[in-house]
Amino acid sequence: MLSLSTTALLAALPAVLAQTSSSETVLGVYMFHRHGDRTPKVFAPTNLTDLGYREVYTSGQYYRSRYIDDTATFRIEGISPDMVNENQIQASAPVDNVLQNSAAGFLQALYPPVGAGADTETLGNGTVVTAPMNGFQLIPVNTVESGSGSENDAWLQSTSSCYKSELSSNEYFVTSAYNDTLSSTREFYQKLLPIISQAGFNASTATFDNAYLIFDYLNVGRIHNATIPHSNLLTPEVVTQIYGLAATQQWNLAYNASETIRAVGGATLGSQVVQFLNATVASAGSLTGGKFAVQFGAYGSFSSFFGLADLIAINDGFTGITNYASSMVWEMFTNTSAPVTASNYPSTKDIYVRFLYSNGTATDATPPIQYPLFGTNQMEFQWDDFVSRMNRFSIGTTGQWCSACGNTTGICEPYADSAGSGSSSSTTDDGRSGGCSNGISPAVNGVIGAMVTLAVVLGLEGLAMLVFGLRVVSKKRLRGGNGAAGGNGEAKL
Ligand SMILES: *[C@@H]1O[C@H](CO)[C@@H](O)[C@H](O)[C@H]1NC(C)=O
Ligand SMILES: *[C@@H]1O[C@H](CO)[C@@H](O)[C@H](O)[C@H]1NC(C)=O
Ligand SMILES: *[C@@H]1O[C@H](CO)[C@@H](O)[C@H](O)[C@H]1NC(C)=O
Ligand SMILES: *[C@@H]1O[C@H](CO)[C@@H](O)[C@H](O)[C@H]1NC(C)=O
Ligand SMILES: *[C@@H]1O[C@H](CO)[C@@H](O)[C@H](O)[C@H]1NC(C)=O
Ligand SMILES: *[C@@H]1O[C@H](CO)[C@@H](O)[C@H](O)[C@H]1NC(C)=O
Ligand SMILES: *[C@@H]1O[C@H](CO)[C@@H](O)[C@H](O)[C@H]1NC(C)=O
Ligand SMILES: *[C@@H]1O[C@H](CO)[C@@H](O)[C@H](O)[C@H]1NC(C)=O
Ligand SMILES: *[C@@H]1O[C@H](CO)[C@@H](O)[C@H](O)[C@H]1NC(C)=O
Ligand SMILES: *[C@@H]1O[C@H](CO)[C@@H](O)[C@H](O)[C@H]1NC(C)=O
Repeated sequence: MLSLSTTALLAALPAVLAQTSSSETVLGVYMFHRHGDRTPKVFAPTNLTDLGYREVYTSGQYYRSRYIDDTATFRIEGISPDMVNENQIQASAPVDNVLQNSAAGFLQALYPPVGAGADTETLGNGTVVTAPMNGFQLIPVNTVESGSGSENDAWLQSTSSCYKSELSSNEYFVTSAYNDTLSSTREFYQKLLPIISQAGFNASTATFDNAYLIFDYLNVGRIHNATIPHSNLLTPEVVTQIYGLAATQQWNLAYNASETIRAVGGATLGSQVVQFLNATVASAGSLTGGKFAVQFGAYGSFSSFFGLADLIAINDGFTGITNYASSMVWEMFTNTSAPVTASNYPSTKDIYVRFLYSNGTATDATPPIQYPLFGTNQMEFQWDDFVSRMNRFSIGTTGQWCSACGNTTGICEPYADSAGSGSSSSTTDDGRSGGCSNGISPAVNGVIGAMVTLAVVLGLEGLAMLVFGLRVVSKKRLRGGNGAAGGNGEAKL
C-alpha cells in the first residue's frame, strides 16, 4: 500500500513542475521508428544484433529525456514520468522478430525499471512481493497487420498486402529507366561477384534486380566483419554506388507521384497518426487518452510518407534509405499561455502539429530535425489544417483500404461490392477499381514471371518467402482480371 501511494506521488509531482521554462505544452506524440542494426536479409531469418539493440535503446533514452521524465525538454502534458501508465502509451509493430524486439528495446529505455523501493507490493496477508529484474516495466507491443515479416522479405512491397500497391510497384520493373539502369550497371555488379558469391549470388543474379539485397548484405558485412575477402573491390566510390543504386530502386518501389497507391504504407501511417492524435484531443475532458504512440516498421514506410508529404521538395536526401533506428515524430502542442487541464483544454484552433525526423539513432548530439510538410515552408500546422492535409492522402478505414487496394477477399469481402464505385480520392488509379483488366498490362505479368524466376534462381535460404510473395502477386493478378471485370477471361493474362 505504501509503495502504491509513493508511486502516485512520484507520478503527480513532476507534472506540476513541468513546462516552467516555456509557454508551450506538448499534448501528444506519434512516432514511427525503424529497427536497429540487424543481420542481413540474404541469411533470413534476420535478427536484431547487440548493436541494433543498443541503437533502439539509445533512441528510447533520448525520447524519454525529450517527452517523459521529470526534466524532459518537451514533456508531454500529464504523462507519467517513471511508472508506465498503459493508457498513455501505445506501442506497435508488425509480426516480425526484428521489429518486435526493436520495439521492446526502445520501451525498456522509455520506461526503465522502477528500481528498489518502487518495485514492491504488499499483499493482503502482509507479505511483501518484489517484482523481478529491479522492477522492469512490462509494456505490451501490439501487432499491426501491414508489414509482417518485412525484415525477412526482400520484396518489401508484398508485406503491404495491398494488391494495387504491389501491382504499381511492379510497374517500375518495366519502365525504360529501370531497363537502362539494369543494363548500364550489369558490369558493375558482375565485378562484385568475388565478394557477394559467398551470399549465393552468381552471374545471373548479381544485377540491379537485387540491388537492395546486395547492398544490405555488404552493409551488414562492413559493419560486422573484421575482414571481408576481396574487400579491395569495395572502394569508397563503389560503396557509394552500391548504396545509391539500392536507394534508387527502393525509392521507385515505394513512391511514385502519379500512382499514390504505391505509397500505401505512408497513406495508412498518415491515418494512424491523425487517428491517434485526434483521440488524444477527443479525450481532452478527461485527459485519459493515449499520449505517446510508437510504431516500428520498415524503411519503405518512411519513403512512402516522405513522398506523400512532399518532403522531397525540400531535400533530395529524402529519396535515400533511412538509416537503422531512424524515427519520424509528429508532435501535437499548444502555445496558449493558460495551463492545460482537463477543464481548460485548448480548443483545436490553438493546437498545432510539427514534424521531426532523425536519420538514425536520435541522441542529444544528433537530435531529430524539424521539417516543413506538404510542400510548404510551414513548420507548424494548425490542427484542422494538419488533419485536412493529411487526409488528402491518408487511408484510414478498412473499406477505404480495400477500395484503394482493389482487394476483394478476406477482410475485404464485405466491401467487395462497393469496391468498384467507392473510389477513394487518395488513389489516382480509380479506373482500375472495378478490376478492369486493362489496368494490368501483359508486360507487367512478364515481369512478375521474371521476378519469380529470379527468386528461384537466387535459391537462398529464406528466399522462399520472396518466391512465395511473388507467386501470390501473380495468382491474385489472375483473379483480379477474371473476377470483377466479368468477361475478361484468363486467356488475356
Ligand atoms: C537468427 O536467429 C535464429 C534463431 O534464433 C537463427 O536460427 C538464425 O540463424 C539467426 N540468423 C542469423 C542471420 O544469424
Ligand atoms: C500470502 O499470500 C501469498 C500469495 O497468495 C502466499 O504465497 C504466501 O505464502 C502468503 N503468506 C502467508 C504468511 O500466509
Ligand atoms: C511513375 O511510374 C510510371 C510507371 O508506372 C513511370 O512511367 C513514371 O516514370 C514514374 N514516375 C516517376 C516520377 O518516377
Ligand atoms: C526493357 O527491356 C526488355 C528486354 O530486355 C524489353 O522487352 C522491354 O520492352 C524494355 N522495356 C522498356 C520500357 O524499355
Ligand atoms: C561476414 O561474415 C559472415 C559470418 O562469417 C559471413 O557469412 C558473411 O559472408 C561475411 N560477409 C561478407 C560481406 O564477407
Ligand atoms: C476525431 O474524433 C472525433 C471524436 O471521436 C470524431 O468525431 C472525429 O471524426 C475525429 N476526426 C478525425 C479526423 O478522425
Ligand atoms: C539519411 O542517411 C542516408 C545515408 O546516410 C542518406 O543517403 C539519406 O539521404 C539521408 N536522408 C535524409 C532525409 O537526409
Ligand atoms: C502559437 O504558434 C503558432 C504557430 O507557430 C503561431 O502562429 C501563434 O501565433 C502562436 N500563438 C501564441 C499565443 O504564441
Ligand atoms: C545461379 O545460382 C542458382 C542457384 O542458386 C542456379 O540455379 C543458377 O543456374 C545459377 N546461374 C548461373 C548463371 O550460374
Ligand atoms: C490483397 O491482395 C493481395 C494480392 O491478391 C494479397 O496478397 C493480399 O493478401 C490481400 N490482402 C488482404 C488483406 O487480403
